Amino acid sequence: MDVLLGLQWGDEGKGKIVDVLAPEYEIVARFQGGPNAGHTLEFDGIKHVLHQIPSGIFRSQILNIIGNGVVLDPIVLKREIEGLGKFSIDYMKNLVISKKATIIIPTHKLLDAAYEQSKGDKKIGSTLKGIGPTYQDKIGRSALRVGDILANDFKEKYNTLVEKHKTTLSFHQYPLDALAEMEEQFFAAIEFFKTLNLIDSEYVVNDALESNKRILAEGAQGSLLDVDFGSYPFVTSSSTMAAGACTGLGVAPSKIGEVFGIFKAYCTRVGSGPFPTELFDKTGEDMRKEGNEFGSTTGRPRRCGWLDLPALKYSIMINGVTQLFMMKADVLNIFKEIEICTHYELPNGEKIDRLSFEISESEVKPIYKVMKGWNCSLENVRSYEEFPDELKAYVDYLESELKVPIKLISVGPDRTQTIQR
Ligand code: GDP
Ligand code: IMO
Ligand code: MG
Repeated sequence: MDVLLGLQWGDEGKGKIVDVLAPEYEIVARFQGGPNAGHTLEFDGIKHVLHQIPSGIFRSQILNIIGNGVVLDPIVLKREIEGLGKFSIDYMKNLVISKKATIIIPTHKLLDAAYEQSKGDKKIGSTLKGIGPTYQDKIGRSALRVGDILANDFKEKYNTLVEKHKTTLSFHQYPLDALAEMEEQFFAAIEFFKTLNLIDSEYVVNDALESNKRILAEGAQGSLLDVDFGSYPFVTSSSTMAAGACTGLGVAPSKIGEVFGIFKAYCTRVGSGPFPTELFDKTGEDMRKEGNEFGSTTGRPRRCGWLDLPALKYSIMINGVTQLFMMKADVLNIFKEIEICTHYELPNGEKIDRLSFEISESEVKPIYKVMKGWNCSLENVRSYEEFPDELKAYVDYLESELKVPIKLISVGPDRTQTIQR
């Protein structure tokens, strides 16, 4: 099983690359996260944003698995499936869902909003999809799982959990006005959910590995949003790293093959939290405009900045990345000079290239290496040989620093705008 992960703060272009690589696999599986993800695919002039459905869904020969590590919102899933209606996808054949995946219920979304509200200006900038409260219940051993919807006592279990949530919501003085309508949608979605292919996915995954089938695990979010190693507490609530694919699918570590690490040729972040190379000037604005950096899930403008090598090295280390994929090289076309952060300078003048516990936004100053930009269009470039020299020099420099080969370079959002080395 190969794993594909974002190495930054999410939105690196995972959806595009899973769709590109999918023909080499028999199975594509999501292992963590939920509707906070927004994975964009573009082909034949159409753009799709997937939230919970794995990005292999447009390839009819691929089985798409939503694994046990995922938190699933039935309302979002129903809407997503209905939205793909015109693509005549055979959901009974091409999509299966783990009975051990956790369900996001309406009060999880209210709790997400209540917690954020109570944090004031320390808020995380959550997508408000209920991710944090649902994982909290999972770890707290009171969550509902997909398999529970098939049992006769589902409504009772649901009510018990909702009562618990209501106590917390009333403590936060959070209004419940929206709940009745959300519940109506939720139970309609649950009826729909029951008609889908719900399985013990760990057996399907391991049987497939046993018969030498190829599986691609599709990460959501990015390593710098990981609950253990990200910029805590400004993180998501799941394990976004390669190890998460093992627990989120029930696969032994020894079965992991390649670990594909995806990064943008620069950096973006949505939501709050440290971002040492963030640009607050026109350069940052130009990056946002050129890269169309607005959230796929929430539409929020993404914060933009130069590539951060200490952070990238950290992500490569904790994931054991074997191949790097660099995305959105074309967005840097507009710059005459490109900066790369090689180190951080601490307030005491010390230079470091490691992410220590103490690192926070206010404390570190990025130190940059400046490289000449290629400053031309990459639109008609179809092979590495055709790249401008400055782009080749950028790639060579990154490889020499990161010590992992950059095997793929993306020069546009479409499937075809992908150059493999
Ligand atoms: P994901 O969450 O990692 O799947 O990434 P998102 O879909 O949230 O964000 C990536 C955005 O960049 C999407 O709008 C993609 O269509 C777009 N994209 C992907 N690769 C490229 C690229 O090489 N160049 C440009 N300009 N856009 C890209
Ligand atoms: P994909 O898979 C970018 C961010 C949110 C917020 C923090 C916590 O598309 O790359 P949460 O809703 O999980 O409680 O939010 O994490 N975040 C993402 N940022 N891409 C994502 O997913 C994200 N999923 C969550 O903006 O800062
Ligand atoms: Mg995204």
